[in-house]
Amino acid sequence: MIELRSDTFTRPTPAMRRAMADAEVGDDVWGEDPTIRRLEAAVAERLGHEAALFVPSGTMGNQICLRLAAPPGTEVLANEDNHILWYEAAAAPVLSGVQLHPVPGARGVLDEAAARARVRTARYGVPTSAIAVENTHNRAGGTIQPLPVLEGLRALADEAGLHLHCDGARIWNASVATGIPLEGYGRLFDSLSVCFSKALGAPVGSAVVGGRDLVDRARDVRHLYGGAMRQAGVLAAAALVALEEMVDRLADDHANARTLAEALASLPSLAVDLASVQTNIVIVRMDRGDRARSTAATAELVSGCAARKVKVHAMGPTAIRCVTHKDVDAEDIRRAVDAFRELTARW
Ligand SMILES: Cc1ncc(COP(=O)(O)O)c(C=O)c1O
Repeated sequence: MIELRSDTFTRPTPAMRRAMADAEVGDDVWGEDPTIRRLEAAVAERLGHEAALFVPSGTMGNQICLRLAAPPGTEVLANEDNHILWYEAAAAPVLSGVQLHPVPGARGVLDEAAARARVRTARYGVPTSAIAVENTHNRAGGTIQPLPVLEGLRALADEAGLHLHCDGARIWNASVATGIPLEGYGRLFDSLSVCFSKALGAPVGSAVVGGRDLVDRARDVRHLYGGAMRQAGVLAAAALVALEEMVDRLADDHANARTLAEALASLPSLAVDLASVQTNIVIVRMDRGDRARSTAATAELVSGCAARKVKVHAMGPTAIRCVTHKDVDAEDIRRAVDAFRELTARW
């Protein structure tokens, strides 16, 4: 089976499994798991921050950060397609009493001008406390937030006294694609949530990254949210391998995504915004003339691909998402393109 639904379907590498089996562990609630400590130090250093905290998931990482960034009754500006708005179970309002304020922006970008226009300070209304960006941007198709945009948001955050958070589940992809070191991104944010379980292939795990004080407070919120995990060094061990060995190879995933995108863009009734294919995600939109036919075609492609042992994800009624990762190679991409070609040839 060629799995293109998500880069979360990856299996741990042999090196990860060995590292897990051999991991030195302790009780992390007591601060005594040496493998978790090593992971936290390594990820903080790479992102140019003082400290990090291992957490079970990207959702928990984001939610811990939002709670620390935004007091109850305030709001957080975010691009309308951000993960925190679409896929995190309304956790910010439920857990933190925080309102998420969706801001329109092409390709998942929230820029300084758009954010500035929504910042509110008046008592009457909802005061803005934070800005959240997503890099790379999942729903927009793995797009990268341009560095000048992020620098503009940093300047705005400083000027208006706002917290700047980054959902960096796939920050590694942005860094590899642009050549901007992780630290070049990290230094711009007050907090980041990064994932080892997406593009990097670890089975589980994310981290909150920031200053020492923020991370100390994040530890308390992680406990509150039930995310303190005792001998989780067995998981951190795989995440360390992910961080050390799996970042540079992301360039292969990006090349595979580009090959796939260009091939699919040339097929009848399929549209791919090639300019938005910047990392490992390809979004294919169906255009069969009208919505009903496009919707039917989407379902036909998803099931037809599955019958040809290629799994793709219907991310909407007329859109399909394909994500490349370490467990698909160039030959798999060729076979995936063949499946799409065979199915669209009938139209
Ligand atoms: C951009 C982004 N942020 C956060 C998450 C949440 O991560 P998790 O599934 O580990 O909670 C995901 C998951 O796919 C994601 O794509």
